[in-house]
Amino acid sequence: MPSSSLKPIESSDIRAILSRMNLEEKIGQLVQLTPKDGILSEELKTLIQKGKVGSFLNITDPSQIEAAQLIASHKSRLQIPLLFAFDVLHGFKTIFPIPIALASSMDAELIEQVARAAAKEARAFGIHLTFAPMLDVCRDPRWGRVAESPGEDPFLASLLSSAWIKGFQGKNLSSSSLLAACPKHFVGYGAVEGGRDYNSVTISYRLLQEIYLPPFLQAFKQGAFATMAAFVAINGLPPAANPQLLKDLLRKDIGLEGPVISDWNAVRELVHHGIAENEKAAVAIAINSGIDIDMVSGLYSQYLEELLQEGKVKEETIDAAVQRVLTLKNKLGLFTQEPHPLKIDQNRWQTILKTNKQIALEAAKKSVVLLKNEDGLLPIAPSIRSIALIGPFSEERKEHLGPWSAIGDSNEVITLAEGLKRYAPRGTKINVVEGCNKFSHGTEDYQQAIKIAQHCQLIVAAVGEKANMSGEAASRAFLDLPTQQQKLIDVLSETGIPVVLIVFSGRPLDLSRIISKTKAILQAWFLGTETGDALGQILFGLYNPSGKLPITFPRSVGQIPIYYAQLPTGRPANRSFPSCRYIDQSNTPLFPFGYGLSYTTFHYSFPTLNRSRINYHQTLEILTEIENTGTVPGEEILQLYIRDPVASLSRPLKELKGIKRVFLKPGERQKIKFTISSVDLAFIDYEGKRKIEPGQFFLWVGPNSMEGKRAQFDLVP
Ligand code: BGC
Repeated sequence: MPSSSLKPIESSDIRAILSRMNLEEKIGQLVQLTPKDGILSEELKTLIQKGKVGSFLNITDPSQIEAAQLIASHKSRLQIPLLFAFDVLHGFKTIFPIPIALASSMDAELIEQVARAAAKEARAFGIHLTFAPMLDVCRDPRWGRVAESPGEDPFLASLLSSAWIKGFQGKNLSSSSLLAACPKHFVGYGAVEGGRDYNSVTISYRLLQEIYLPPFLQAFKQGAFATMAAFVAINGLPPAANPQLLKDLLRKDIGLEGPVISDWNAVRELVHHGIAENEKAAVAIAINSGIDIDMVSGLYSQYLEELLQEGKVKEETIDAAVQRVLTLKNKLGLFTQEPHPLKIDQNRWQTILKTNKQIALEAAKKSVVLLKNEDGLLPIAPSIRSIALIGPFSEERKEHLGPWSAIGDSNEVITLAEGLKRYAPRGTKINVVEGCNKFSHGTEDYQQAIKIAQHCQLIVAAVGEKANMSGEAASRAFLDLPTQQQKLIDVLSETGIPVVLIVFSGRPLDLSRIISKTKAILQAWFLGTETGDALGQILFGLYNPSGKLPITFPRSVGQIPIYYAQLPTGRPANRSFPSCRYIDQSNTPLFPFGYGLSYTTFHYSFPTLNRSRINYHQTLEILTEIENTGTVPGEEILQLYIRDPVASLSRPLKELKGIKRVFLKPGERQKIKFTISSVDLAFIDYEGKRKIEPGQFFLWVGPNSMEGKRAQFDLVP
């Protein structure tokens, strides 16, 4: 009988279990299935009893989890517990802002809290592993999965990666409030060509090493226990067929000990990729390349035994994969955990929800980016006594959960209208009207919207994408607002009443056409459960926004890919013809990476350095004084960028190397210190080797990737 202790058993015991397993049971551990509608069928129960399945995804009903676990732990021959996995990307029941929104907070501590909060809820339901964090750096907002991503920059992505892992996994995974993390999608999926989901990826070894790999390295350094391989072809080879990637790089060089999980049906898709001639061949390729767990294709159970008999797969390959799965289960304490700790203690659950609601509100407020604020229109002045809240997101609940919203309940979402009414000064009149539908035509009533607006002093227009317009399989070739929403903004701006725009989206939208029609813009992404309260507080100045863009906002789709860390060109755009520019569009973005305003203003001093040159072992200290020069308290995210102007390989015009936050009262100043050393200046050279080259470097400390005060230093051997 399993005891109630959560302590892992000895690794020698794991080896002993392995030695008692028959082939069918071993293969079972590598099989991950998903029951239809999350409900166990009789057929699945039989498979569990026979030890022919090792893990499930997408079961979230604790009674189903408990039922399955009881069969595995009591009725199967070796009583090996099941592992339950789920996509807990930005919350489980309490829904936090989507990952790209959280990345706008640039706040690692906040993200750690969010991950821990989500872990507590999911583990209370019996989930053990989350398919998160998604660490795909992405520079193409057409790709819908940018919503799940940490944005365009490897430094920021790595910082947040650590935080996600710490938050999900904590120190002792077997604790009943933690989840095993499974960073995904290893590696390069964020560069799908044309931003079209599932399309192939072509990236150089240097880009792979410098841009796409770092957040994963950070995750594994932080102890992430598993990973999911991308299912797209990277340089012609899907990771499920790439032993150099999964074995040489991931296992040998990086040293990942935990299992590699295929993405959904990825083993079968090797056939569609033209890599395997049939499903059986796909299985041999996948397991021999390093895929331990086959997510949902069912092909491992169908073909592994046969392949073993034919000598195409070795038993030791299967054993090693099984050992990794059992070790993960053991780390989670599953071998000693009661199979039914799942009766959720209602008091404990309510306490978790209450705390998480607070974290969700904090996270939502920190995720909002103020993009424009002409004449200091925001926060809304107390003299404004009547507000027209117009747009299809005014009274919306469901869409605010965003893509991958786990078991989030839209009824718990606070609408923008509710938030506005809650935080408006007493007596403020708030009139609400949809004006038009989010996506479909035919229900527009611009006249009514105009009529309501004309009786108010201020318009708050709530517009954006539907949640399912971003996320997986939601690539877009046009990034504008749906036409009826654009028209709504047109007619509202024609009233002459100032318009505050709130944009909900899973990606940067193309706001060029509407920017001049509004006086203020808040980029709100999808903020989750606490949407209304967060925005209510921001609009009325009870919270001063501090979010910064983790991804560049283009002026038009034609500029994509557009990102701040561009390489220099032989014919820079500021030279006369012929130069590197469009004939019909500027090169600059609408809003650059790192950009975001505040209700106050900050003055940056020129950075001072503790020395003008450093050698390979010294540290450079960079001090900047920052002052709140406005009239309200505010938080600023200071950013440190560097440039290596002359190197053996062309280096980016700027690279982010530091982020610091500071909260200042009006008139308050503070000296902020960044430190860097030669390792921060390393790059991957033409031969693919990490290299540090001496020479001159520029650095900037500033509020975004386009502004900042410059200094310079030398690196000497
Ligand atoms: C996605 C993964 C996800 C998996 C399981 C796939 O389609 O690419 O990110 O974890 O489904 O839901």
